[in-house]
Amino acid sequence: MIGGLHDVQVPAGAQAQAIAGLWHWLLPICTLVFVAVMVALGLALWRAPRAGNDAEPDVSALWRPEPKVKRTVIAAAAVSALLLLVLLGESVLTDRALAQLPLENALHIELTGYQWWWEARYDDPDPSRIFTTANELHVPVGRPVIVTLIGADVIHSFWVPSLAGKKDLIPGRDTTVSFRADRAGIYRGQCAEFCGYQHAKMALYVIADRPEAYARWAERQRAPAPQPSSDEAKRGRDLFLARSCALCHAINGTSAQARHAPDLTHVASRMTIGAGALENTPSNREAWILDPQQFKPGTKMPSENIAPQDLAALNAYLGSLQ
Ligand code: CUA
Repeated sequence: MIGGLHDVQVPAGAQAQAIAGLWHWLLPICTLVFVAVMVALGLALWRAPRAGNDAEPDVSALWRPEPKVKRTVIAAAAVSALLLLVLLGESVLTDRALAQLPLENALHIELTGYQWWWEARYDDPDPSRIFTTANELHVPVGRPVIVTLIGADVIHSFWVPSLAGKKDLIPGRDTTVSFRADRAGIYRGQCAEFCGYQHAKMALYVIADRPEAYARWAERQRAPAPQPSSDEAKRGRDLFLARSCALCHAINGTSAQARHAPDLTHVASRMTIGAGALENTPSNREAWILDPQQFKPGTKMPSENIAPQDLAALNAYLGSLQ
């Protein structure tokens, strides 16, 4: 299966770094408090006077002055308040750090969450340079990224732990999240808000490339789909356009322009299919086209009744869409 770094404790960007920093305050302080409370509870139980079931209740402690206990309680309350203040201060500072990411020359991506996949539209001042892809973002290392989050059907949540914190995609209420990847690598993201049957299979990969590699990738994505070079792939394209595939998917450079499912213009360049459900290999693609419900029950893509030689042609065409 496709891996990718998915770890809040291994930050690869400024945002995740700030959040990991907060965690390094929270974890020891809360552990310390927990242990102290448990020790105090244990001591209290151990020191409590033992009594049988029929003994008279001993309420003498209600009138007995206990200056030592009083002092301990006051001291414990003061320490708790102080620790809470430290954590409050640290979270405010973290919030400020998150808000202060420099955003000059940011890359703009519009990310829409659907049940159960992600559509990414790479914005550009020049409309002819805008392109759309799915379930896999490429970003240049060191350049800030502003992602506009759009919920298309239900609430989803954007979460790429090694790069940034969580942010919900709420239908009718667009929000943004910004991050910067400081190290090249593959970072795994996951929808972090329960959004239905296949919520768990709603992965998102963020691939941070060196700027030149990113520019090459983006240039390739902008290009229309390559013309099929073999007869089989040509037949595959005709099948794609004639069958129900074109009712949901788009392939730029062909008449397929539907936007109900992932854009397939360069599907062969992606690591996975089905939003991380399967590795993008020829045999997996074939199995997926034949029966996606087997891998992702409830997905909107129906299982297809398709002759083996047609399936092979279709798959040859999709495999050529680099
Ligand atoms: Cu989308 Cu959970």
